[in-house]
Amino acid sequence: MVKLTGNKKLSTAVFISGTGSNLNSLIKFSKLRNSPIEIKFVISNNKYAKGLNFSKRYKIETKTFSFKKKINTENLILKNLEKRKIRLICLAGFMKILSKNFIKKFNGKILNIHPSLLPKYKGLNTHAKVIANNDKFSGCTVHIVNSNLDSGKIILQKKVIVKKNESVHSLKKKILKQEHILYPKAIKKFISSL
Ligand code: GRF
Repeated sequence: MVKLTGNKKLSTAVFISGTGSNLNSLIKFSKLRNSPIEIKFVISNNKYAKGLNFSKRYKIETKTFSFKKKINTENLILKNLEKRKIRLICLAGFMKILSKNFIKKFNGKILNIHPSLLPKYKGLNTHAKVIANNDKFSGCTVHIVNSNLDSGKIILQKKVIVKKNESVHSLKKKILKQEHILYPKAIKKFISSL
């Protein structure tokens, strides 16, 4: 059970693989005086991830793990998280699937953001699927991570309208903008429910 005492912020790690625009928005959120989180650690599986520039800029401790031997890597990551007393993990464009064992050890304290209105379009290429199916709406979802891909309890969602002439690029951009607002909101909601 995670307990928040006084003004103490929850020690948080963010896992990324790519651009890191959500990492950037979470860092900005964590710097607000009334934010419930402090980002203490950033993990990437990709040493070329652009998002690493954000952790560098804000001087947040960062490590890259290759994930070649997944179980060994996960055990090493767990040790690193324990050492830094990390209580919450936010996946933000992290492209590796964490094992059941890892998820179990973190016991309901891993969140993810997904660019669709789950349970629609789990997995990859969500925007292309939305357009191919002529959907009128899409959006993004923040959910708790469980051992089934993109299937854990939903915390918050944001809907956007898909225009007639929408491209994958324009839809992605529109949804990302909402993701940057939704993830902090969902974290607040999640933490206040603990
Ligand atoms: C976002 O669309 C997120 O929903 C998905 O991966 C993308 C990551 O973007 N899981 P960024 O790296 O945060 O810019």
